[in-house]
Parts: sequence; C-alpha cells; structure tokens
Amino acid sequence: MASPLPPPRLLSRRRLLGGLLAAAAASTLPAATLARSTTPLTRTLPGTDVALPRVGLGSWITFNVGDDPRLLEACTAVMAAFFAAGGRLIDSSPMYGTSQATIGHALGRLEALDRVYAADKVWTSRRDEGPTQIEASRRAWGVPRFDLLQVHNLRGWEGHLETLQAMKAAGEVRHLGITTSHGRRHDEMEHIMRRAELDSVQLTYNIVDREAEQRLLPLARERGIGVIANRPFQRKRLIRRLAGQPLPPWAAEIGAATWAQFILKFIISHPAITCAIPATTQVEHVRENLAAAREPLPDEAMRRRMAEYVRGL
Ligand SMILES: NC(=O)c1ccc[n+]([C@@H]2O[C@H](COP(=O)([O-])OP(=O)(O)OC[C@H]3O[C@@H](n4cnc5c(N)ncnc54)[C@H](OP(=O)(O)O)[C@@H]3O)[C@@H](O)[C@H]2O)c1
Repeated sequence: MASPLPPPRLLSRRRLLGGLLAAAAASTLPAATLARSTTPLTRTLPGTDVALPRVGLGSWITFNVGDDPRLLEACTAVMAAFFAAGGRLIDSSPMYGTSQATIGHALGRLEALDRVYAADKVWTSRRDEGPTQIEASRRAWGVPRFDLLQVHNLRGWEGHLETLQAMKAAGEVRHLGITTSHGRRHDEMEHIMRRAELDSVQLTYNIVDREAEQRLLPLARERGIGVIANRPFQRKRLIRRLAGQPLPPWAAEIGAATWAQFILKFIISHPAITCAIPATTQVEHVRENLAAAREPLPDEAMRRRMAEYVRGL
C-alpha cells in the first residue's frame, strides 16, 4: 500500500480568493493573451539544447483551487500573464492537491501546450506506483509527455530514477531530476548528484537560504546539472519581512524596482542557477517576477553587497 497522502495545504480561502479574483479582474481571457510582450533572459539546461527563461512558475498551494470556475479562471489569468511575459517552465507535483488539474485547465483554455516546459514530479515511496502516478499527472496536465520529471523530496529515489531513465531512453520524458527544499537532506542530494545521471536538481536557494552555495551549487556546475531554485520568497515570509525596509538606492543599478525583483535577481545571477520558480496568485506579481529576468543582473561584487545589505536589516 502507498503511504497515505497528507491533506493538500490550502491558503486561507479569503486570502486565496482575494489574490486570485484580483488576478481575474486584471486580465481578459484568452484573446491575444499569448502575444509575447518581452523576452526574458534564458539559461540553457546543461547538456541539452533547451534554453529556459530564468524565472519560471511554481504551483504549490497557489493553484490548489479545486473546481471553482472563478478560481480556475483566475489561475488561467496568472498563466496567461506568465506566457505573455515569455515564461515557460511551470513546476507541479501530485502532492499539490488540484494544482496539476488547474494547470491542465489553463493550458487547454490558452492553447499553450507549445509554450510550456512542463516540470512535474513523482511522489510515492513505492517504485511500482510511479508509472501509474506519472500517467495520472500527465492526464491532469493534458500534455503529450513531461519535459522534466523529478523525484519529489528524494522519496524512493533509487527505484524512481531507474523508471525515469527508462522513460527517457524511450522518449517518454525529456529530462529527469530530483528535488528537496528548506535546506533538508543536502548530504543525500550530493550523494545522488555524484552517482546518478541527472539533468536537473531542485532545491531551496535565496538571498538568506544560501547553504546550497557550499557544496551543491559548485557540484552542479562541475557535473553539468541544471538547478531550479524553489521557495525564492520563503513562501512570502521573506517578502513580508523586507516589505517594511527601504530598497537601497543602488538597487536601481541592477534594475530591481521591488524587493521581489531584488531577491530574484540575486538568485538567478548565481552561475549555477538555471531558473527560480516563484509561485503567485497575482497577475501583477507574475509580470514583476518575469521582469526580474532582464538585464542588468548583479555581478559577484554586487551579489555580495546585496546579501550583506539584507543581512544588516
Ligand atoms: N521539494 C520540492 O520539490 C518543493 C518544495 C517547495 C517548493 N517547491 C516548488 O517551488 C515553488 C515556489 O515555492 P513556494 O510556493 O513554496 O514559495 P515562494 O515562491 O517562495 O512564495 C510564494 C508566495 O510569494 C508571493 N509572491 C510571489 N511573487 C510575489 C511578488 N512579486 N511580490 C510579492 N509577493 C509575491 C505569493 O503571494 P501572491 O499570491 O500574493 O503573489 C506566494 O504567496 C512551489 O510553488 C513549488 O512549485 C518545490
């Protein structure tokens, strides 16, 4: 038997409704929504010919909206704004409640299958349940195949990586990887990165959670593995903490007009990071986040200055 799944994390309904309904109001769908307004900076997933915009889109909690038509349309508006701003990589998991179905709904409404780089996960401790779960996820998204499949939180990684390798060899998935978060299980992640053939790893990295800089990010460069940075805003805790503080005047030198952009530019300017994947319920925040993936980006000296400034607040 599979271990029972915990109940999906839900935002307080009032907060989620507020954000999502504002998103719906800010956008009309789907007419011309996919005309691309800007081109974000990209980074090539190492060892592949896939150039990914350096800001993607997460879906944990924010897209877990059930089957409420208004909320589904609001999430569709968020995804429309994401694609219009040049976004491609969307990340989800069978752990994220109805988020996969929400993404599938929006991809259908927006006719955006050719725009998305579909990143999902396998999340079960039983190897033999992996293929069935992956197929259910694929149907929920409505994609012909996933671009990236990741072993969520390293759960059952040995067996699942064998499954994913076989799927990759058969052309049933393009890329494969593993994930962790909150700075957990970095020793085990390092062990797998040294041993397995991976296209990408996903881990927590932001201007205050920097443990990955010690070993995992250098190792990713050495081994030619892409890195997806999750929890860029510590689930908004970081943004809330900084919100009462002034942006330094020199933030303008790196084109950061808000704290969100300041944080994202710090993350994506690390040479090992392929992209960051902030989640949001708001159209304006998607635009703001994608706009962070533009020149100028900070150099190493500026990155140090940014981290010191935040540490001093
Ligand atoms: N182990 C794993 O595999 C793992 C673990 C954690 C996360 N992840 C992935 O990483 C994604 C991102 O992490 P996360 O969802 O935990 O947290 P996060 O992206 O750090 O934070 C999300 C929060 O940031 C807020 N936000 C987004 N853009 C903003 C902006 N421009 N200004 C102000 N607030 C903004 C959003 O609120 P609004 O709705 O108000 O914009 C949302 O509440 C997840 O959704 C998931 O796809 C994977």
